[in-house]
Amino acid sequence: MLTDFNFPPFPKDCKSQLCKHLTKETFEALKDKKTKNGFTLKEAINSGVVNSDSGIGVYAGDKESYSTFGLLFDPIIEDYHSFKVEDTHKSNLNPNDLNAPVLDVDGEYIISTRIRVGRNFANLPLGPAITKEQRDEVQERSSQALNSLEGSLSGTYYPLEGMSDEISKSLIKDHFLFKAGDRFLEASGLNREWPEGRGIFHNEDKTFLVWVNEEDQLRIISMQQGGDIKEVFTRLTTAIAHLQKKIEFSYSEHLGYITSCPTNLGTAMRASVHIKVPKLAQDMKKFEAITDKHHLQIRGIHGEHSESEGGIYDISNKRRLGVTEVECVQDMYDGVVALIQAEKDA
Ligand code: ADP
Ligand code: ARG
Repeated sequence: MLTDFNFPPFPKDCKSQLCKHLTKETFEALKDKKTKNGFTLKEAINSGVVNSDSGIGVYAGDKESYSTFGLLFDPIIEDYHSFKVEDTHKSNLNPNDLNAPVLDVDGEYIISTRIRVGRNFANLPLGPAITKEQRDEVQERSSQALNSLEGSLSGTYYPLEGMSDEISKSLIKDHFLFKAGDRFLEASGLNREWPEGRGIFHNEDKTFLVWVNEEDQLRIISMQQGGDIKEVFTRLTTAIAHLQKKIEFSYSEHLGYITSCPTNLGTAMRASVHIKVPKLAQDMKKFEAITDKHHLQIRGIHGEHSESEGGIYDISNKRRLGVTEVECVQDMYDGVVALIQAEKDA
């Protein structure tokens, strides 16, 4: 019995999915449950309890968390993804199904394109519940698989441990590396033993990168300057196909690729551009009408929880579960076409 664990006090203005869906009844039904890895409700909700300004506020410790704590996760998943318990996910990573002629050839609007997916190892806990030994094993097996990539995808794995401040700062500033000290990840248990076991792999041009043991065990990333979205997607799908021959990824018929945060379930894909639309940005209502219509999310120039600078925004797909990877990228592409048109008209 977890006797010291009472219903958490949420402030009145709390808007997270956690405080919306954690009823007293759900809390009572789940508070003493544990997954096989020993992950508890207390751990699953700690990030949202500590950070009452969370949008979501929950993390899974393993694939089983999604069923063990389903009374809480199911309504959050339904609310965020409009995806019901009886729905099934489908995957399509075929770049030939994407309709995306190169955009903005003169480079007036699109600065860069980036597409990432999250992946986690089948048969290991997710980051919030992983042990140090298991995390080190993920690093070892990932760097081995990555070192077997050939041609333009071949590169080097750089552990965070021992990386100079100067190099990590410059990789972060140039949008290649994750930041340290995220308070949401901290409270979820994802930052334990930081920076041990974490690192980044990249090819020479930094068009193909893999983050190891951040929010997910792998974040596989393809990025480049300009608006050739299909080329970025093709590079990513080639790399994924190679890596899944070496590593079995955690997947479920219902939830697709399993990730530590429920927002990333399904495709675990975020396809984005950095786009310069200073005139349109004068009218945020109009801007948001377009992004809402195309199911897009607006982020700042240094990623999540950052601000825009100089009229440049990070625009990405919001839908990830119950839609295919091709549909995620197509959402982003179609929305970007509309944003460019609106900027020209403004
Ligand atoms: P995630 O992509 O994993 O959801 P973030 O929102 O924190 O995480 O973004 C990670 C990094 O990727 C940040 O430095 C962000 O600026 C950078 N980034 C995202 N989209 C692009 C893009 N289209 N071009 C260049 N950098 C990008
Ligand atoms: N846990 C944070 C929140 O609830 C982030 C959620 C989505 N972002 C993410 N990187 N998983 O606001």
